[in-house]
Amino acid sequence: MSSTSKSYKRITTNSLFEMKQAGEKISMLTAYDYSMAKAVDAAAVDVILVGDSASNVMSGHETTLPITIDQMIYHADAVVRAVKRALVVVDLPFGTYQSDPKEALRSSIRIMKEAGAHAIKVEGGAEIKDSITRILNAGIPVMGHLGLTPQSIYKFGTYTVRAREEAEAAKLLEDAQLLEKLGCFALVLEKIPAELAAKVAKTVQIPVIGIGAGGDVDGQVLVLHDMLGLTTEFSPRFLRRYMNLYDQMTTAVQQYIQDVKTNEFPNKNEQY
Ligand code: KIV
Repeated sequence: MSSTSKSYKRITTNSLFEMKQAGEKISMLTAYDYSMAKAVDAAAVDVILVGDSASNVMSGHETTLPITIDQMIYHADAVVRAVKRALVVVDLPFGTYQSDPKEALRSSIRIMKEAGAHAIKVEGGAEIKDSITRILNAGIPVMGHLGLTPQSIYKFGTYTVRAREEAEAAKLLEDAQLLEKLGCFALVLEKIPAELAAKVAKTVQIPVIGIGAGGDVDGQVLVLHDMLGLTTEFSPRFLRRYMNLYDQMTTAVQQYIQDVKTNEFPNKNEQY
Protein backbone atom coordinates (compact mmCIF):
# COMPACT_ATOMS: atom_id res chain seq x y z
CA MET A 1 0.00 0.00 0.00
CA SER A 2 3.01 2.32 0.29
CA SER A 3 2.77 3.29 -3.37
CA THR A 4 -0.80 4.61 -3.06
CA SER A 5 -1.67 8.23 -2.41
CA LYS A 6 -2.95 7.58 1.13
CA SER A 7 -2.37 11.18 2.15
CA TYR A 8 -5.50 12.23 0.25
CA LYS A 9 -8.69 11.79 2.31
CA ARG A 10 -10.87 12.31 -0.72
CA ILE A 11 -9.57 12.51 -4.28
CA THR A 12 -10.58 15.60 -6.21
CA THR A 13 -9.74 16.82 -9.71
CA ASN A 14 -7.19 19.06 -7.99
CA SER A 15 -5.55 16.09 -6.23
CA LEU A 16 -4.96 14.49 -9.65
CA PHE A 17 -3.31 17.68 -10.89
CA GLU A 18 -1.10 17.74 -7.77
CA MET A 19 -0.17 14.08 -8.35
CA LYS A 20 0.96 14.88 -11.88
CA GLN A 21 3.04 17.79 -10.65
CA ALA A 22 4.60 15.63 -7.93
CA GLY A 23 5.31 12.82 -10.41
CA GLU A 24 2.98 10.44 -8.54
CA LYS A 25 1.23 8.02 -10.89
CA ILE A 26 -2.58 7.98 -10.86
CA SER A 27 -4.43 4.66 -10.56
CA MET A 28 -7.85 4.30 -12.18
CA LEU A 29 -10.16 1.29 -12.58
CA THR A 30 -13.72 0.83 -13.74
CA ALA A 31 -16.56 -0.35 -11.49
CA TYR A 32 -20.26 -0.68 -12.17
CA ASP A 33 -21.87 -1.91 -8.95
CA TYR A 34 -21.87 -1.34 -5.18
CA SER A 35 -19.95 -4.42 -4.03
CA MET A 36 -17.12 -4.18 -6.56
CA ALA A 37 -16.80 -0.41 -6.11
CA LYS A 38 -16.56 -0.87 -2.32
CA ALA A 39 -13.62 -3.28 -2.69
CA VAL A 40 -11.86 -1.12 -5.28
CA ASP A 41 -12.28 2.02 -3.15
CA ALA A 42 -11.09 0.21 0.00
CA ALA A 43 -7.90 -0.68 -1.89
CA ALA A 44 -7.38 3.09 -2.35
CA VAL A 45 -7.59 3.44 -6.12
CA ASP A 46 -7.52 7.13 -7.06
CA VAL A 47 -10.25 7.25 -9.72
CA ILE A 48 -13.22 4.95 -10.34
CA LEU A 49 -14.65 5.15 -13.84
CA VAL A 50 -18.22 4.04 -14.35
CA GLY A 51 -17.37 3.25 -17.95
CA ASP A 52 -19.78 2.60 -20.77
CA SER A 53 -17.78 -0.64 -21.00
CA ALA A 54 -20.62 -1.74 -18.68
CA SER A 55 -22.37 -2.36 -21.99
CA ASN A 56 -19.79 -5.11 -22.70
CA VAL A 57 -18.92 -6.59 -19.32
CA MET A 58 -22.23 -6.18 -17.48
CA SER A 59 -24.70 -6.68 -20.34
CA GLY A 60 -22.77 -8.78 -22.85
CA HIS A 61 -23.11 -6.39 -25.79
CA GLU A 62 -20.46 -6.46 -28.50
CA THR A 63 -19.97 -2.66 -28.38
CA THR A 64 -20.51 0.23 -25.98
CA LEU A 65 -23.15 1.81 -28.21
CA PRO A 66 -26.36 0.26 -26.85
CA ILE A 67 -26.06 1.38 -23.20
CA THR A 68 -28.56 4.10 -22.28
CA ILE A 69 -28.25 7.08 -19.96
CA ASP A 70 -30.76 5.49 -17.55
CA GLN A 71 -28.60 2.36 -17.38
CA MET A 72 -25.46 4.45 -16.79
CA ILE A 73 -27.23 6.32 -13.98
CA TYR A 74 -28.29 3.00 -12.41
CA HIS A 75 -24.66 1.78 -12.37
CA ALA A 76 -23.21 5.13 -11.28
CA ASP A 77 -25.69 5.56 -8.44
CA ALA A 78 -24.67 2.17 -6.97
CA VAL A 79 -20.96 2.99 -7.31
CA VAL A 80 -21.22 6.44 -5.73
CA ARG A 81 -23.03 4.93 -2.72
CA ALA A 82 -20.06 2.60 -2.13
CA VAL A 83 -17.23 5.08 -2.54
CA LYS A 84 -15.65 7.07 0.30
CA ARG A 85 -12.38 8.20 -1.23
CA ALA A 86 -12.01 7.84 -5.00
CA LEU A 87 -13.07 10.41 -7.58
CA VAL A 88 -16.04 8.90 -9.45
CA VAL A 89 -16.10 9.71 -13.18
CA VAL A 90 -19.03 8.58 -15.32
CA ASP A 91 -19.08 8.09 -19.10
CA LEU A 92 -21.70 9.97 -21.09
CA PRO A 93 -23.09 7.19 -23.29
CA PHE A 94 -23.17 7.27 -27.09
CA GLY A 95 -25.82 9.59 -28.50
CA THR A 96 -26.28 11.76 -25.42
CA TYR A 97 -23.78 14.55 -26.16
CA GLN A 98 -22.61 14.54 -29.78
CA SER A 99 -25.55 16.16 -31.53
CA ASP A 100 -26.22 19.26 -29.50
CA PRO A 101 -24.48 21.08 -26.59
CA LYS A 102 -27.80 21.60 -24.78
CA GLU A 103 -28.48 17.89 -24.83
CA ALA A 104 -24.89 17.25 -23.67
CA LEU A 105 -25.48 19.53 -20.70
CA ARG A 106 -28.85 17.93 -19.90
CA SER A 107 -27.24 14.46 -19.97
CA SER A 108 -24.38 15.60 -17.72
CA ILE A 109 -26.73 17.26 -15.24
CA ARG A 110 -28.77 14.05 -15.00
CA ILE A 111 -25.64 12.05 -14.21
CA MET A 112 -24.43 14.55 -11.60
CA LYS A 113 -27.86 14.96 -9.92
CA GLU A 114 -29.38 11.48 -10.18
CA ALA A 115 -26.21 9.45 -9.57
CA GLY A 116 -24.16 11.91 -7.51
CA ALA A 117 -21.15 11.58 -9.84
CA HIS A 118 -18.10 13.82 -9.39
CA ALA A 119 -17.26 14.27 -13.09
CA ILE A 120 -18.18 13.03 -16.55
CA LYS A 121 -16.11 11.65 -19.44
CA VAL A 122 -16.67 12.15 -23.16
CA GLU A 123 -14.98 10.70 -26.25
CA GLY A 124 -13.60 13.02 -28.94
CA GLY A 125 -11.80 16.31 -29.58
CA ALA A 126 -12.55 19.34 -31.76
CA GLU A 127 -15.79 17.88 -33.13
CA ILE A 128 -17.44 18.00 -29.67
CA LYS A 129 -15.83 21.18 -28.35
CA ASP A 130 -19.13 23.09 -28.07
CA SER A 131 -20.64 20.31 -25.97
CA ILE A 132 -17.58 20.23 -23.70
CA THR A 133 -17.66 24.00 -23.24
CA ARG A 134 -21.35 23.96 -22.38
CA ILE A 135 -20.84 21.22 -19.76
CA LEU A 136 -17.80 22.94 -18.24
CA ASN A 137 -19.65 26.28 -18.08
CA ALA A 138 -22.21 24.63 -15.81
CA GLY A 139 -19.43 23.74 -13.35
CA ILE A 140 -19.24 20.06 -14.25
CA PRO A 141 -15.69 18.64 -14.49
CA VAL A 142 -14.97 16.91 -17.80
CA MET A 143 -12.44 14.16 -18.56
CA GLY A 144 -11.56 13.75 -22.24
CA HIS A 145 -10.87 10.51 -24.11
CA LEU A 146 -8.81 10.32 -27.33
CA GLY A 147 -7.15 7.64 -29.45
CA LEU A 148 -9.23 4.49 -29.72
CA THR A 149 -12.66 5.81 -28.80
CA PRO A 150 -14.94 2.75 -28.67
CA GLN A 151 -18.12 4.76 -29.35
CA SER A 152 -16.69 5.35 -32.87
CA ILE A 153 -15.98 1.69 -33.54
CA TYR A 154 -18.15 1.61 -36.66
CA LYS A 155 -16.19 4.55 -38.10
CA PHE A 156 -12.82 2.88 -37.30
CA GLY A 157 -14.03 -0.61 -38.30
CA THR A 158 -11.50 -2.25 -35.98
CA TYR A 159 -10.14 -2.09 -32.41
CA THR A 160 -6.56 -1.80 -33.66
CA VAL A 161 -3.97 0.74 -32.41
CA ARG A 162 -4.85 4.34 -33.43
CA ALA A 163 -2.70 7.31 -34.49
CA ARG A 164 0.18 5.35 -36.02
CA GLU A 165 -0.03 7.63 -39.07
CA GLU A 166 1.45 11.13 -38.85
CA ALA A 167 -1.77 12.98 -39.69
CA GLU A 168 -3.84 11.17 -37.05
CA ALA A 169 -1.05 11.59 -34.47
CA ALA A 170 -0.88 15.34 -35.19
CA LYS A 171 -4.68 15.67 -34.85
CA LEU A 172 -4.58 13.75 -31.56
CA LEU A 173 -1.92 16.08 -30.13
CA GLU A 174 -3.93 19.12 -31.27
CA ASP A 175 -7.09 17.67 -29.73
CA ALA A 176 -5.29 17.03 -26.42
CA GLN A 177 -4.14 20.66 -26.32
CA LEU A 178 -7.63 21.84 -27.20
CA LEU A 179 -9.20 19.76 -24.41
CA GLU A 180 -6.73 21.27 -21.95
CA LYS A 181 -7.48 24.78 -23.24
CA LEU A 182 -11.23 24.24 -22.92
CA GLY A 183 -10.74 23.28 -19.27
CA CYS A 184 -10.90 19.47 -19.11
CA PHE A 185 -9.27 18.26 -15.88
CA ALA A 186 -7.72 15.07 -17.32
CA LEU A 187 -7.50 12.97 -20.43
CA VAL A 188 -7.66 9.24 -21.23
CA LEU A 189 -5.53 8.03 -24.15
CA GLU A 190 -6.53 4.59 -25.39
CA LYS A 191 -4.47 2.24 -27.54
CA ILE A 192 -1.99 4.59 -29.22
CA PRO A 193 1.79 4.32 -29.66
CA ALA A 194 3.66 4.80 -26.35
CA GLU A 195 5.91 7.46 -27.85
CA LEU A 196 2.97 9.62 -28.91
CA ALA A 197 1.27 9.20 -25.52
CA ALA A 198 4.48 10.27 -23.77
CA LYS A 199 4.66 13.35 -25.99
CA VAL A 200 1.06 14.29 -25.15
CA ALA A 201 1.68 13.81 -21.41
CA LYS A 202 4.74 16.09 -21.62
CA THR A 203 2.95 18.73 -23.71
CA VAL A 204 -0.18 19.20 -21.59
CA GLN A 205 -0.31 20.16 -17.91
CA ILE A 206 -3.45 18.11 -17.17
CA PRO A 207 -3.04 14.43 -16.12
CA VAL A 208 -2.97 11.92 -18.97
CA ILE A 209 -4.24 8.44 -18.07
CA GLY A 210 -3.32 5.65 -20.45
CA ILE A 211 -4.84 2.33 -21.44
CA GLY A 212 -2.63 0.59 -23.96
CA ALA A 213 -0.61 3.82 -24.22
CA GLY A 214 2.63 2.80 -22.51
CA GLY A 215 4.16 3.77 -19.19
CA ASP A 216 5.33 7.34 -19.83
CA VAL A 217 1.99 8.92 -19.01
CA ASP A 218 0.59 10.16 -15.69
CA GLY A 219 -1.52 7.16 -14.76
CA GLN A 220 -3.16 3.93 -15.93
CA VAL A 221 -6.71 2.66 -16.28
CA LEU A 222 -8.00 -0.87 -16.87
CA VAL A 223 -11.44 -2.41 -17.02
CA LEU A 224 -11.89 -4.13 -13.65
CA HIS A 225 -13.43 -7.32 -15.05
CA ASP A 226 -10.50 -7.69 -17.46
CA MET A 227 -7.72 -7.21 -14.87
CA LEU A 228 -9.46 -9.60 -12.44
CA GLY A 229 -9.74 -12.25 -15.17
CA LEU A 230 -13.51 -12.32 -15.00
CA THR A 231 -13.71 -11.75 -18.74
CA THR A 232 -11.88 -14.45 -20.66
CA GLU A 233 -12.41 -13.67 -24.34
CA PHE A 234 -10.60 -10.28 -24.36
CA SER A 235 -6.79 -10.47 -24.38
CA PRO A 236 -5.10 -7.40 -25.89
CA ARG A 237 -1.35 -7.03 -25.36
CA PHE A 238 -1.79 -4.14 -22.92
CA LEU A 239 -3.95 -6.12 -20.50
CA ARG A 240 -2.31 -7.54 -17.37
CA ARG A 241 -4.51 -10.05 -15.54
CA TYR A 242 -3.95 -9.91 -11.77
CA MET A 243 -6.06 -13.01 -11.09
CA ASN A 244 -8.22 -15.58 -12.86
CA LEU A 245 -11.51 -14.84 -11.18
CA TYR A 246 -13.59 -16.64 -13.81
CA ASP A 247 -11.81 -19.96 -13.06
CA GLN A 248 -11.94 -19.39 -9.30
CA MET A 249 -15.66 -18.63 -9.42
CA THR A 250 -16.42 -21.66 -11.56
CA THR A 251 -14.46 -23.90 -9.19
CA ALA A 252 -16.27 -22.48 -6.14
CA VAL A 253 -19.68 -22.90 -7.78
CA GLN A 254 -18.86 -26.50 -8.78
CA GLN A 255 -17.85 -27.22 -5.17
CA TYR A 256 -21.14 -25.72 -3.93
CA ILE A 257 -23.17 -27.84 -6.37
CA GLN A 258 -21.36 -30.97 -5.23
CA ASP A 259 -21.91 -30.10 -1.54
CA VAL A 260 -25.64 -29.58 -2.16
CA LYS A 261 -26.01 -32.80 -4.16
CA THR A 262 -24.13 -34.88 -1.56
CA ASN A 263 -25.87 -33.22 1.39
CA GLU A 264 -22.52 -31.86 2.67
CA PHE A 265 -24.09 -28.41 2.78
CA PRO A 266 -25.49 -27.22 5.11
CA ASN A 267 -23.85 -28.96 8.07
CA LYS A 268 -25.02 -28.85 11.72
CA ASN A 269 -23.27 -25.47 12.36
CA GLU A 270 -24.94 -23.91 9.38
CA GLN A 271 -28.51 -24.44 10.53
CA TYR A 272 -30.80 -23.16 13.31
O1 KIV B 1 -15.66 2.57 -20.75
C1 KIV B 1 -14.52 2.35 -20.31
O2 KIV B 1 -14.28 1.41 -19.55
C2 KIV B 1 -13.45 3.25 -20.72
C3 KIV B 1 -12.04 2.86 -20.36
C4 KIV B 1 -11.57 1.80 -21.25
C5 KIV B 1 -11.13 4.03 -20.34
O3 KIV B 1 -13.69 4.23 -21.35
